[in-house]
Amino acid sequence: MPNLRLPGLADVHTHLRVPGGEQKEDFSSGTAAALAGGITTLLAMPNTTPPLTRPGTLRETCQKAQRAIFCDVGLFAGASPQEIELLPQLSGPAVALKIYLNETFGPLRVEDLPALLACFQLWPRRKIIAMHAEGPNVAVGVGLAAAYRRPVHFCHISRRAEIELIAAAKRRGLPVTCEVTPHHLFLSEADAARLGPLADMRPRLAAAADVEALWRHLDTTVDCIATDHAPHTLAEKQSANPPPGVPGLETSLPLLLTAAAEKRLSLERLIELMATHPRRIFKLPPQPDTWVEVDPRASYTLSNEGLQTKCGWSPFSGMRVTGRVQRVVLRGTEVYADGKVLAQPGSGQMIPRALN
Ligand code: DOR
Ligand code: ZN
Ligand code: ZN
Repeated sequence: MPNLRLPGLADVHTHLRVPGGEQKEDFSSGTAAALAGGITTLLAMPNTTPPLTRPGTLRETCQKAQRAIFCDVGLFAGASPQEIELLPQLSGPAVALKIYLNETFGPLRVEDLPALLACFQLWPRRKIIAMHAEGPNVAVGVGLAAAYRRPVHFCHISRRAEIELIAAAKRRGLPVTCEVTPHHLFLSEADAARLGPLADMRPRLAAAADVEALWRHLDTTVDCIATDHAPHTLAEKQSANPPPGVPGLETSLPLLLTAAAEKRLSLERLIELMATHPRRIFKLPPQPDTWVEVDPRASYTLSNEGLQTKCGWSPFSGMRVTGRVQRVVLRGTEVYADGKVLAQPGSGQMIPRALN
């Protein structure tokens, strides 16, 4: 059987650590990892150091990115209560707005209602708002989507009650969408006990019943698979105060192809969840002459060896998978083949284009 041809995947939730965390990942290593995972467009999160909450920082980061990237990249602006009036100025260079309602890596948080309302009033309607909301805060986001009649995208939904609430909101016709991560689909609390800090992230790994609920909703309520690629160095993860987060760009497609091989989801649904839906929800530009070639029957063990991500480890190391990325073509150019990145630095495009 010949290789399978998939569209270039889009990951709407990646942490690339520029500025301030380049020892964990940078635009070069992160977009190389994306290509190795069949991802040709990624959206990078704003919880950097400093965070992407000011126009100057956002523009400088765009410029740095443009010189380095191997695939297409959009940057999220971050909502910060102290700088909320800057949101309109951030909306040009940013692809979308990210609001953190819950505690996670870095200080970015919007906890007071006036600041939250200001986000919905000041951020232009043509660009989507994405939220890190856990537990009852998912209901806060659903309420805001209803009150302001505008799309809200929920990041990394991980609990049964959360996915059921989003299903109910969708039945009501509310403009909400959501993503789930491969780690919340393929790992649970039991793995957290086994892997310790290497399986610590926000939201934390959940109970088996939550994992089952995500799988049950994969064909209906779930809109996207997003990696929440959150690289930290092994030294940081093994320190006394390990930061939360796990890498995922290179393992996401092999894991989902394995699920497809096991008939846990169809290949058509995989393509919707990893390419069509994220591109539509975030209004990402098309990439003509772009595809990913995979060998759907290649069976192998995921390993830390040969990873493109700077952090050099994966919580899935040692897991047997079926399905390997062989080759990636972006806008007619071979950018990745047989484990090697062939693209030129800076050949990826920033979304939106031509800012300066
Ligand atoms: O585990 C996480 N790590 N969750 C987040 O929301 C942030 C991320 C990070 O930036 O490391
Ligand atoms: Zn998050
Ligand atoms: Zn994240």
